[in-house]
Amino acid sequence: MPTERTLVLLKPDAVARRLAGPILTRFEQKGLRIAALKLIQVTPELAKRHYAEHVQKPFYPMLESFITAGPTVALVLEGKSAISVVRGMMGPTNGRDAAPGTIRGDYGTSRQMNLVHGSDGPEAAAKEIAIYFQPHEVVDATEPLAPWLS
Ligand code: TYD
Ligand code: MG
Repeated sequence: MPTERTLVLLKPDAVARRLAGPILTRFEQKGLRIAALKLIQVTPELAKRHYAEHVQKPFYPMLESFITAGPTVALVLEGKSAISVVRGMMGPTNGRDAAPGTIRGDYGTSRQMNLVHGSDGPEAAAKEIAIYFQPHEVVDATEPLAPWLS
């Protein structure tokens, strides 16, 4: 079980709805460690880098409008299998398909305004962490109480 880092965004709908704290709490309660955290305004240029695989798709202009519409919380979470653990906690893209107990399932019914982003694999995580954070902004922490996480 590798320790991984993943890039998470609490999207503008989460911040606007005052759900950044509750969503962050869920990740902390799961046992993931915050390795980096900041509030940012995503620009169109940043959106195009982040969503490079989607830029040519018909929904992209609306996605860019949404993700740039207000502040976003960007964070790096670290833990055992953090990438798949976060994806599981998020639920599927469309809130209408997401089961109760997942973040998208508990807080929304939209496909676009789905509250949270999490990297979908190790390559994406490395790319996305580098887009949002300088290396010195991602903090290495010793875990004095690590046994409860293993
Ligand atoms: P995608 O990477 O497919 O979803 P996920 O966030 O679950 O990894 O798509 C990126 C975002 O684009 C998604 O969170 C919401 C938005 N989106 C739409 O607005 N319409 C669509 O039809 C799709 C597929 C995605
Ligand atoms: Mg994706």
